Amino acid sequence: MSNFIFSNHDTVELAKKYSTPLYVLSEDIIEENSMKIKSAFEKTMIDYEINYAGKAFLTTAMCKIIQRLGLSLDVVSGGELYTAITANFPVNRICFHGSNKAISEIRMAYENKIGKIVADSEYELGILNEIAEEMDVRPNVMVRVSPGIEAHTHEYVQTGRIDSKFGVPLKLMESVLSDPNKYKNLNIIGLHCHIGSQIFDEKPFLIAAGTMLELMKKLTNNGFELKQLNLGGGFGIPYLNDEGAFDIENYIKKLVEFIKEKSTQLDIEFPKILVEPGRFIVGPAGITLYEIGTIKEIPHTRKYISVDGGMGDNPRPALYNALYHAVVANKPKYNDDDEELVTISGRCCETDTLITDVLLPKCEAGDILAVLNTGAYNYSMASNYNRLPKPAVVLLKGNEDQLIVERETYADLVSKDRIPSWYD
Ligand code: LLP
Repeated sequence: MSNFIFSNHDTVELAKKYSTPLYVLSEDIIEENSMKIKSAFEKTMIDYEINYAGKAFLTTAMCKIIQRLGLSLDVVSGGELYTAITANFPVNRICFHGSNKAISEIRMAYENKIGKIVADSEYELGILNEIAEEMDVRPNVMVRVSPGIEAHTHEYVQTGRIDSKFGVPLKLMESVLSDPNKYKNLNIIGLHCHIGSQIFDEKPFLIAAGTMLELMKKLTNNGFELKQLNLGGGFGIPYLNDEGAFDIENYIKKLVEFIKEKSTQLDIEFPKILVEPGRFIVGPAGITLYEIGTIKEIPHTRKYISVDGGMGDNPRPALYNALYHAVVANKPKYNDDDEELVTISGRCCETDTLITDVLLPKCEAGDILAVLNTGAYNYSMASNYNRLPKPAVVLLKGNEDQLIVERETYADLVSKDRIPSWYD
């Protein structure tokens, strides 16, 4: 009987070769998803840039993939920036985000001459300007606006509301950018907004674009030359079988038509358009393989199937009630008679349910479970809770498979521990 195949690879063989829990990532699927966005833009003939949002998943190998695909990279911390620099990612294609950048991170960005920095607040514009003067540099800066658009998504991941820690509130923008000479060490090239994550409808993006263009008009009147508009990421992916996908081609087409019309009406130049997707590119490109261990049936109540990972490698169900689908990798096809409704539990010392109520064939210890669509915000949000070592990440490309992150060892877990001298 055949096993579950992911991106041309037998997942049971991968589990045997690399052990479990294991993150599996497909370069081919990353490429396919990136090309969907790229070809949607290519059809419109406009000037555009796709910034992959590294927070979704970033390692040095991922930087190489993003570079090969001709995308740019959005980083949000010194750690992500360091990862990109270590991978020799072209610095002019790096955009540095973050709502509370450290002075040392700003210096690091200037020293490495990265492409652009997104200023998140009036305070930060001041700091960026001061450090630029001191270091005698003139960085490209975009200003993040909180445009007050509510996207329909899980509340915890909405970032575009007025009541948000992110960005300059729309109402304050005209006073913050009232005088082009105020931040004379910064090259203020455009505006940014990000209205949320896991969004399926293009409408809130179009509303945000309209708001941002009107703001660009006002700031142009204040004497600014704003040539770029970044509308953020947030394109939704189907985590379950019956969810639709965000129609990227339709969105880009409608967006470009809308911006053409609106910019003509406002009599401003058509700006370069940037987007910043993370999940859409890498989410469906990843799965997590676990080995099934303890199975506990509480009569007339529930059957718990435990796996050898959990909230340490995937905190999203615990944090956001995120839903996932799974298959038993060594039993991908089965008779309906063998099917049962079960709950998948992690191995942490709390109720770390990964999936509540999923239909699976009858399982036994030693079976391999594949949880689907775990490419985004799983590895990047993983922790060592319960001192569980983080799983390895294996990358698939064509018929090849190679480790891009080694499995943590117990020695890694204690490597930064220090025992105080009074125990000598
Ligand atoms: N740009 C900015 C400024 C962002 O804040 C984000 C995500 C993105 C781009 C990429 O969004 P995406 O295309 O991946 O939806 N940990 C949460 C998601 C937090 C998203 C935060 N910002 C989760 O696991 O669902």
